[in-house]
Amino acid sequence: MCGIIGYIGGNVESNLYLGLERLEYRGYDSSGMVIKRGSNFTTYKATGVVEKLKPTIKEVATFGIGLAHTRWATHGGISIENCHPHFSSCGDTALVHNGIIENYEELKGDLIKKGKYFYGQTDSEVIAKLFDCKLNINNLRRVREKLIGSYALAIISKNSDYIYFAKNKSPLYIGLGNDCALIASDPSCFVGFADSYITLEDGDYGKFSKKEVIIYDKNNKIIKKQPEKLDFSFINEELSGYSHFMLKEIYQSRIALEKIIEVYQSYAMKEKLEILKNKEFDRIYLIGCGTAYHAGLIGESYMRDAFNIDVFCEIASEIIYKNLNIDEKSLCIFISQSGETADTLSALEYCKNRGGIVVSITNTEYSSIAHKAILNFPILAGQEKAVASTKAYFAQCIVLYIITNYLKGIDYIFPLQNFKRQIDFGDDNILKSLASKLANFEKVFFIGRKRDYITAKEASLKLKEITYIFSSAEPSGELKHGVIALIDKTVPVIVIATDEKVFNKTLNNACEIKARGGKLILFTTLNIDNEIEKAFDFVVKVNKVSQAFMPLQIILSLQKLAYFTAVAKGLDPDKPRNLAKSVTVE
Ligand code: F6R
Repeated sequence: MCGIIGYIGGNVESNLYLGLERLEYRGYDSSGMVIKRGSNFTTYKATGVVEKLKPTIKEVATFGIGLAHTRWATHGGISIENCHPHFSSCGDTALVHNGIIENYEELKGDLIKKGKYFYGQTDSEVIAKLFDCKLNINNLRRVREKLIGSYALAIISKNSDYIYFAKNKSPLYIGLGNDCALIASDPSCFVGFADSYITLEDGDYGKFSKKEVIIYDKNNKIIKKQPEKLDFSFINEELSGYSHFMLKEIYQSRIALEKIIEVYQSYAMKEKLEILKNKEFDRIYLIGCGTAYHAGLIGESYMRDAFNIDVFCEIASEIIYKNLNIDEKSLCIFISQSGETADTLSALEYCKNRGGIVVSITNTEYSSIAHKAILNFPILAGQEKAVASTKAYFAQCIVLYIITNYLKGIDYIFPLQNFKRQIDFGDDNILKSLASKLANFEKVFFIGRKRDYITAKEASLKLKEITYIFSSAEPSGELKHGVIALIDKTVPVIVIATDEKVFNKTLNNACEIKARGGKLILFTTLNIDNEIEKAFDFVVKVNKVSQAFMPLQIILSLQKLAYFTAVAKGLDPDKPRNLAKSVTVE
């Protein structure tokens, strides 16, 4: 939700623009840039995707100081007025902000009474108007004391050669290069510019130039932070011949699996797993949002099968309302691709405050969630650029499988190696042909039993988020309890069947749909006879694997179905409307 970047060095415009492209996954409602050369500001703003900003920019290949921002609108519509950067009333101070200022209305009211004029409706403009014309540490301290909410702020002034910053509950990092210094919401922006970076903590604020970094902590004490080495392997910038990142990333599931197999055999990783095994707990909670929550459901099914203790999977934004019994004996596993999801982060704090043993599974070892957990298990999927999560889901489930087997004392390497050999991404022609039909429908249902119901939920989420087709996932057995009222010939139902033991029951439910004129589509790994096949209007078959990996095998084809359907509808699957990849607001 919004990405910010600040840069001090040469070629400011083009380097900031590259940073914006790298941050675009955080929102693409509008973008903007301000450059300071001498004591002048040049500003660029455009609504829409970052590409729209490019033609407005006049490249000046000399040293400068600049800020840039890509927006996911929260307060105020998508307009040039609401586009960052925002300026102090005198116009001498410019800032970019990621986060939400909860008391902005009250602050705005006071400022209006003092005669300040507002151009737009954002909470961020309120912060800008709180600055007087002189930007210095005292002013910054005074302003941040007034703010309630989350913020990653980068601020420049016509009268200073520093970039000022402040962080609370939104991610912020400083990148240190030989010829430049940077600040950004995500250290992936530093690749090619810096070889080390500093992670800022909540309450930190300060300023930096090319020569020095001065950081104050929440107690207003100057602190020194050890820079960490930047890992270049994470970045994923090339389409490598694919039409979209989403398709590339679906195929990268296999690479993620290979990497997980390699790294999870290492001594260091086994030591981590051993630390977890030695913890004393009598309940397990798996917590995440969206797709990460669905991975948690798969993990819950593994753990319930393996252990004799209670295992619960919870939606992060709901957990605080549930009065759950979370204490020192609760193992709380937080699942998050980005490691920055605000709802998951709040749930983590909630469980930590109750004494829970807080562990994370993330794709970003530098993230806030990974930092706050006592142990972080990386999913090693490499950067996921497409907004819809694909390879991360696959890798999260694999890591949950490994944790389950390690705690149970069962080998996981051999089964994973076997699975790697049997991975089946589905037949493109069959999936494209189905997608071209599906693109004409307005609603779709997914049904399944047991783990297939979890797969149905994930497949349904994928379809709706990138095709805007209404879709819903139902447990097969639940249809007759209400939802079947919606079935007629205009409604395709995708039946997911990978579990032999419950196939007959699922088949009965499918027949109930057929009897009401619904279109039936089967996604299966089972060997089914011709008579059964005839009951369906369309059948997609993928190779059978061992039962634990069935949800992962079948989801690959379902992800591709969503992808091909979006393409058939002429939509951009990588940048669905209204969404952002990293959801850093609650
Ligand atoms: C769906 C999707 C989202 C995320 C959710 C959590 O394709 O990507 O549902 O899974 O926003 O994000 P992370 O995993 O970063 O916490």
